[in-house]
Amino acid sequence: MCGIVGYIGCQNAIDVLLDGLSHLEYRGYDSAGVALMGENKINIHKALGKLCNLIEDLKKKDPKEIKSHAGIGHIRWATHGLPTLANAHPHSCNCKGLTLVHNGIIENYQEIKNFLTEKGVTFTSQTDTEVAAHLIAYEYGKTKDLIQAVSNATKKLKGAWAFCVMHKNEPDSIVATRKNAPLLIGKGNGENFLASDIVAIIKYTKKAIYLEDNQIAKITKDTISIYNEDLILTENKVESLPFEPVALSKMGYKHFMLKEINEQPDVIRNILQGKIKDEFSKVNLPDVNLDKKQIEKINRIQIIACGTSFHAGLVGKYIIEELTNIPVEVETSSEYIYRKTIADEKTLVIGISQSGETADTITAIKQVKEKNAHVLIITNRKESLLARLSDSLLHINAGIEVSVAATKSYIAQLVSIYLLAIYMAEKKDEKEEKLQTIKHELLMLPAKIEAVLSNSKKIQEIAKKYSSYKNFIFIARGINYPSALEGALKLKEISYINATGYAAGELKHGPIAMLDETMPVLAILNKGMVYDKVMSNCEEAYARRAKLIGVANNIDDKHKTIFDDIILIPDIDDSVSPALNITVCQLLAYFIAEYLGKDVDQPRNLAKSVTVE
Ligand code: AGP
Ligand code: GLU
Repeated sequence: MCGIVGYIGCQNAIDVLLDGLSHLEYRGYDSAGVALMGENKINIHKALGKLCNLIEDLKKKDPKEIKSHAGIGHIRWATHGLPTLANAHPHSCNCKGLTLVHNGIIENYQEIKNFLTEKGVTFTSQTDTEVAAHLIAYEYGKTKDLIQAVSNATKKLKGAWAFCVMHKNEPDSIVATRKNAPLLIGKGNGENFLASDIVAIIKYTKKAIYLEDNQIAKITKDTISIYNEDLILTENKVESLPFEPVALSKMGYKHFMLKEINEQPDVIRNILQGKIKDEFSKVNLPDVNLDKKQIEKINRIQIIACGTSFHAGLVGKYIIEELTNIPVEVETSSEYIYRKTIADEKTLVIGISQSGETADTITAIKQVKEKNAHVLIITNRKESLLARLSDSLLHINAGIEVSVAATKSYIAQLVSIYLLAIYMAEKKDEKEEKLQTIKHELLMLPAKIEAVLSNSKKIQEIAKKYSSYKNFIFIARGINYPSALEGALKLKEISYINATGYAAGELKHGPIAMLDETMPVLAILNKGMVYDKVMSNCEEAYARRAKLIGVANNIDDKHKTIFDDIILIPDIDDSVSPALNITVCQLLAYFIAEYLGKDVDQPRNLAKSVTVE
């Protein structure tokens, strides 16, 4: 999690650091801090909460005090220690000569803390990070060389980290290193940058060097030196960054989340462009390196992802099995990594991640790579760590998603999975008629989502009506079961209402015990194979006096009376309906949270990129 920026050059470092951090704030907002190289000392400024608090504090300072040619900055998503000022980064050694910012977790911090305490070191925070600052300083005491000290110290650490380190005795350089956490160097002219994400520095440079695990870099304003773990100088490729500086603007919407929901039709049009011409042409996926022979060889598919991306994977299971007849297992990355990895060269492993940075998913994918499985990554960030591990890539191209709650990236993942399923089925010459229906529905999807969006007022009214409930249940069956899970996740993430998604048929096996008039049940009822079955489950809920909200293409007159509210969506083939149904759930969650006055785009305790396991 967290965001890191470093700068050295002729600009005033604080301007670059604050600007960079402002683009990273979606990664954490427990506290913010900067360290600025001064005359024979390092000046540190920290504030609790969002970055704006630090900016306000700095406005009160004498500009001379914060003028500097070099600095590092951090926004925190706390893993060890409360979100307090003492725990905010940067962290320093006892003499304040060395300071650093850190993204990740030092797993063996307690052991090192004990060792350093015996050496007389005193600790001022509860963080794992502070331990690293003291350890590097301890090693620096022996070597008087920052690169060597960072190398010695990191060899003693276990866990994940991206560090930017400054020492007052080496005022014209910043040292950086990473392991299992993102960090890149931006190459400028007479200036250089460090960042945990390119969005922080894209305004200043389009040239980047991605650090590999355990490499250590020393940047000055004119030079970039990169060493491997044995401290041998190495050459990394300088890559051109694909992005234009993005104006992260809400474009008149109250929140990024609402803007991003409304972008969904265009996101889909964007993905389909060049990939499907019409329902009669074959799907074209240029970055999927799987030919007919390889696809015919695949005997199992494993989908690995977290959170919303995991839900997209669940939809993938239904559609890929339906179209290709290949068995698909879907698992959350954090569970996948702690059991035996059963995969081989006949396995296709699909990793799904909006950010391409999720630590659990990266670890899982590294594990399967060792088993020679073909790794296909579906991501919104084609320059990410995860994309770099792929054999095949599906870039969902949804544009930067700022709101912590994923919306447009989910739709883009769904559409990409449909394309992949069709692509594989076409290579296997399977189910031509069904494929034409799905391709047709995908081409019609943007217009159908626009129809749902134009019904926002009604969804807003329903949201207001249900905003005071403390619990919510979402039910669905078949390919929309993941829609129930994702709908519930959206609501709990941004409104903190206790919402749970269930397979409708499971209600009677336990959850039905909770139903009474205080429990709204949102049922997704597409006309299709499971409509009658979900309707029976709605009847069961009605019989327990639950409040019923139906999301459906149409509800028969004889059933209408059991519903308190009905949200109608356009007719759509069951197979593609999750994309439409989820738009309703996203809007409902958004309007409830907005009505409750919650911080919709930056919900408490969450961060957009989860770079710790
Ligand atoms: C989505 O609304 C969540 N914020 C979260 O569940 C997210 O989907 C999850 O952390 C996975 O992120 P990724 O897609 O970037 O890997
Ligand atoms: N583990 C560190 C802390 O709790 C760093 C967390 C982060 O990545 O923001 O401060």
